[in-house]
Amino acid sequence: VARWVAARLALRKGVTTRLWDPLELPFGNLQLRVREMPSVPPALEEFRQDIVNADGFVLVTPEYNFGLPGALKNLLDLFFVEWHHKPFALVGAGGISGGYRALDTLRIIVPGLVGVTIPTVLPVHRVETTFGPNGPVSDVADWEQRADRLFVQLEWYARALQRARAEGLPGAPARTG
Ligand SMILES: Cc1cc2nc3c(=O)[nH]c(=O)nc-3n(C[C@H](O)[C@H](O)[C@H](O)COP(=O)(O)O)c2cc1C
Repeated sequence: VARWVAARLALRKGVTTRLWDPLELPFGNLQLRVREMPSVPPALEEFRQDIVNADGFVLVTPEYNFGLPGALKNLLDLFFVEWHHKPFALVGAGGISGGYRALDTLRIIVPGLVGVTIPTVLPVHRVETTFGPNGPVSDVADWEQRADRLFVQLEWYARALQRARAEGLPGAPARTG
């Protein structure tokens, strides 16, 4: 799903994407945030630079036992200011629920990173039969339309927040937790 989403997003005018898979990165088990590390592994620094440069994110997550994978939470927690005031589009992959509970959990987590989840989400139900290695196995035009609708929303928030960040930041976020 992530590969297909990234490829579809890359087709859009003015959009540059990069796909990162926590499986391929030395994120490990969170002990130190990146800003606390005495030396930052090159792959993490490369990832950090990508987050800094990005105007928005698409998080693609499976759902396991009603939750999101620890690897994704770990990846998010390694960074903080890098996520601030940027929009997140959420894509879920699951069984009957389409990963909806993982997506709703991300709606709680992302504000903790001072990020903004956009209202539209893309749940993929019964992912093991609806998607194959190259994307949707049927109803391709429908899936493309669903993805493009998500991207239109993400781009709107990306442009709006890019402008707003350029005008100035609202100061340190109040820690209400
Ligand atoms: C242990 C386990 C628990 C799962 N729990 C859920 C769940 O709670 N909700 C859901 O929608 N799908 C659930 N699924 C389906 C997975 O989200 C789906 O199979 C997805 O493709 C898993 O991604 P993966 O192929 O990268 O492992 C579960 C699958 C496994 C293996």
